[in-house]
Amino acid sequence: MFPDTCNSVYNEIMLIHKAIPGTSLDNVDLSVKFLGYELKFPLIIEAITGGLPASKSINESLAKIASEYQIAIGVGSQRPILQTSFREDVIETYRVVRKIAHSVPVIGNIGITQLREVEVDALKKLVDVIGADALAVHLNPAQEAIQPEGDVDFGEDLYYRIRDVVQELGVPVIVKEVGHGISMEVASRLLELGVRYVDTAGACGTNWALVEAYRNQRESVYHNVGLELFNWGIPTPLSVIECRSVSRDLFVIGSGGVWSGLKAAKLLTLGANLVGFARPILKTLIEQGIEGARRFITRYLATLRTVMFLLGVRSVREACKAPLVLGPSVVNYLLQRGINPAEYIEKKRCGGLFEH
Ligand SMILES: Cc1cc2nc3c(=O)[nH]c(=O)nc-3n(C[C@H](O)[C@H](O)[C@H](O)COP(=O)(O)O)c2cc1C
Repeated sequence: MFPDTCNSVYNEIMLIHKAIPGTSLDNVDLSVKFLGYELKFPLIIEAITGGLPASKSINESLAKIASEYQIAIGVGSQRPILQTSFREDVIETYRVVRKIAHSVPVIGNIGITQLREVEVDALKKLVDVIGADALAVHLNPAQEAIQPEGDVDFGEDLYYRIRDVVQELGVPVIVKEVGHGISMEVASRLLELGVRYVDTAGACGTNWALVEAYRNQRESVYHNVGLELFNWGIPTPLSVIECRSVSRDLFVIGSGGVWSGLKAAKLLTLGANLVGFARPILKTLIEQGIEGARRFITRYLATLRTVMFLLGVRSVREACKAPLVLGPSVVNYLLQRGINPAEYIEKKRCGGLFEH
């Protein structure tokens, strides 16, 4: 699916230009509510790092950006905190995010297979020590399967572990992929078990099959499996539709290669509540420093605002009501997945995709 399929999927999502938008560009309001906060923009910096000394300064910069733009931010996997039995210097590499970003949602992070190894009390402590507002549980079966040391037991018991965590944790649980997308079958099971937030991290961006392929020697079987699965997963826009079609009660974060404001606008129009990215902000931060990262976000948001304006959309809440036309491959995909494209679009038009 990557990258050609992803581009063609995005090209098949056609937004309809409104020649008299009915508002002024300056009046487009991009704010959204998320986890009890009012974000200025419908954006989250996805989970990236934590644990190592070098990750502290990256998290510091990301937190500054999140705070300046009033957007949400996730930390990377908190497994190192568990592995070091809550060592202070390790905690600090994550806690720095909350210290800097006081007034935006901060999301903790743990892998789903770790839920087997720890009690909910330890997860509560993970959330508390970094002052998080929610815990993201990441699903990464493809990544684990392409690692020699990978944990490849993703049995059914994990669903029930998630249910227990949702019931007992005391803060919301966000279930996220890491780059291969969430299907409606998985989203629907998660909803039944009480999960209200999913993050698609679909297959149009950071590609862990490839990352793992290149981490392994050329002659290794993992290298080969990773290369062959270079396009594995559900493209992000389709994963957004799949999750959204499960229920209007799900809060859907569209991520995975959402690296431009235009793509962000398409996902919000399809029914995502929020969009997120990881790789481009990390890349610009490393290559161009914090100013480069600021430039990236400023441009991104300028495009998003402009597209909203040209759709005649005054707020993110209105975005999902904007008309769109789906191309033949997307329509075909949806029909075969049991989603009626015309009904989906009609629901959108009537604002029936999600509660605001
Ligand atoms: C360097 C890097 C590290 C990441 N580490 C984590 C992690 O610890 N936990 C997690 O849930 N996702 C992790 N991710 C996945 C991202 O949170 C995100 O879901 C995914 O990269 C898709 O977004 P993108 O295509 O914009 O990069 C990582 C991504 C990158 C690029």
